[in-house]
Amino acid sequence: MVTKLTIDGKIHTLNADSQTVLLWALRDHLNLTGTKFGCGVGQCGACTVLIDGKAMRSCSVSVEGLEGKEITTIANTDDKVLRTVQESWIDNDVVQCGYCQSGQIMNATGLLKANPTPNEEEILTAMDGNICRCGTYNRIKTAIKQLAKEA
Ligand code: FES
Ligand code: FES
Repeated sequence: MVTKLTIDGKIHTLNADSQTVLLWALRDHLNLTGTKFGCGVGQCGACTVLIDGKAMRSCSVSVEGLEGKEITTIANTDDKVLRTVQESWIDNDVVQCGYCQSGQIMNATGLLKANPTPNEEEILTAMDGNICRCGTYNRIKTAIKQLAKEA
């Protein structure tokens, strides 16, 4: 089955079963490997992308029904909020090994799109399910707080 997916502002033609999981559509079919595979069962957040601006776990969404929706990945260079999050991550030296950070950044972007000035509790609640084995949680919180302060 052919599905047209709008990813980072470009239309991609996917020739795959309609039940194909978005994460595998991105990585295996379209060679967009910025979105990472962690657990594959919706438990770690490594695969987070935005769908119509909302953070979603791409390992838990099939491509069926995604035609016409805006899918935003870490590779998007036009999304202003995403760019400011990436800059704050650099300013605050957030990254250690980096594996979880694509998902962390996309989840933070989804949070800041919905709420540009989250308080500490809102940050912790929104970021709670994104796991970082390197323990960068405090720096992630600081980077988001900086953006909330600037907003
Ligand atoms: Fe999707 Fe872990 S790979 S939540
Ligand atoms: Fe290594 Fe998060 S930076 S898992």
